[in-house]
Amino acid sequence: MQNMQTIIKNGTIVNHDGRVRADLLIDGDRIAAIGNDLAVSGAEVIDATGCYIMPGFIDTHTHFDLDTGSAVTADNFDTGSKAAVLGGTTCILDFATQERDGSLQAALDEWHRKAKGSSCNYGFHMAIARWDEGVAAEMEDMSKQGVTSYKMYMVYDALKVDDGQIYAALKKAKEHGALIGIHCENWEVLQRKIAELKAQGVTAPYGHPLSRPSEVEAEAVNRYMRIAQLADAPAYVVHLSTAEGLAEAERARARGQEVYLETCPQYLLLTDDRYKDADGTKFVMSPPLRKNEDNEQLWLGLKEGRLDAIGTDHCSFTMAQKAIGANDFSKVPNGGAGVQHRGQLIYTYGVCEGRITLEQMVRYLSYGASRLFGMKDHGEIAEGKAADIVVWDPLYQGRITDTNHAHNCDNSVYAGFDVRGRARDVLINGIHVVSDGELRRAGCGKYISRGRYEKIR
Ligand code: URP
Ligand code: ZN
Ligand code: ZN
Repeated sequence: MQNMQTIIKNGTIVNHDGRVRADLLIDGDRIAAIGNDLAVSGAEVIDATGCYIMPGFIDTHTHFDLDTGSAVTADNFDTGSKAAVLGGTTCILDFATQERDGSLQAALDEWHRKAKGSSCNYGFHMAIARWDEGVAAEMEDMSKQGVTSYKMYMVYDALKVDDGQIYAALKKAKEHGALIGIHCENWEVLQRKIAELKAQGVTAPYGHPLSRPSEVEAEAVNRYMRIAQLADAPAYVVHLSTAEGLAEAERARARGQEVYLETCPQYLLLTDDRYKDADGTKFVMSPPLRKNEDNEQLWLGLKEGRLDAIGTDHCSFTMAQKAIGANDFSKVPNGGAGVQHRGQLIYTYGVCEGRITLEQMVRYLSYGASRLFGMKDHGEIAEGKAADIVVWDPLYQGRITDTNHAHNCDNSVYAGFDVRGRARDVLINGIHVVSDGELRRAGCGKYISRGRYEKIR
């Protein structure tokens, strides 16, 4: 049978290192040719006049179908992956999460089951909830099955590991060319702070950021940096939210350590005054929203190439689920929805406002993740690469509301944000899945078995 062929004409191809006006020929699931006036009889033609053609976005951080103990996320792989694709995200890296008394293999099998039928491509980071000899031995099996990155939490009763376990895991991961991302917050101190606030009668959502001030993250980032130094291993910080945390990571770089950093749109665009809003529970996530100065320092870090990826930490709950903690901020299910809006937010408030270039947007939304997480076939528009492609219409204008999105929840932390640009057309594995901003083919995603991480700094 002949491969399906598509030509994308008249657009500007944007990669992390430059842009060029050229046409693209897609043959099957590959980019077959880049050139001028490409023509093939029988090929579907997409006219990209006035549009940017970018490598499909990769979201480094999603939680679909996650049971946090108090609530199950509103989005599963079906709804979450559709929202992702509509926003130009062609691949997500979701957190397969080990049960305390379970194996990594059981978690991986479970996440493969959950992800069946996904509308975007997907890979898994493995969240390690228990570290022992057996789990250490499983890392080799994980690598063979394409899982080459991990997350360990310094927080949450069901997930927290200790510093010695992080040290041992870093050493083991290094043997396998795998990266460990750490959720950096000081759990013991923040628990004390929660107790202090409650003793003062603070139970409303504004207690959440008070219990986890920026030093709670900065101390933990510093500790992680030193543990990674002792283990002689690369360090990856997930969802970095503070200027002080960034400074700690940069101190480690200055002494020669290999450090990678992920932040999220919420830490670039939202501030902690939102916890006093009537729907303050909506913004309860960890780390919490910060100050304007933190936002600006993180933008500056992006401009100067000091961060490596922007993921969403998509972890959606309905307002009814959030209400579990209406009278106790420490009981609000943590997280917010965002997988659909990352491209629009970074384009509008990053590129259009001159904080970063379009090429940097590609680097932070796609290329960096492809290299850090062993997906060399992705993250670039180049001959022979996977045909995961976004045709970005820069002229679109809209406003995000609590309900005009494809997330399976009745809220958005970005409600009220005006946005420019949208994913007009999206191709996944060479299949034209989004046309004129509408999903026309669901379920085209595949598992991406990943290789060793690549040193990118
Ligand atoms: O509040 C958040 N971020 N929930 C998701 C879990 C995590 O820590 O990433
Ligand atoms: Zn986390
Ligand atoms: Zn997360």
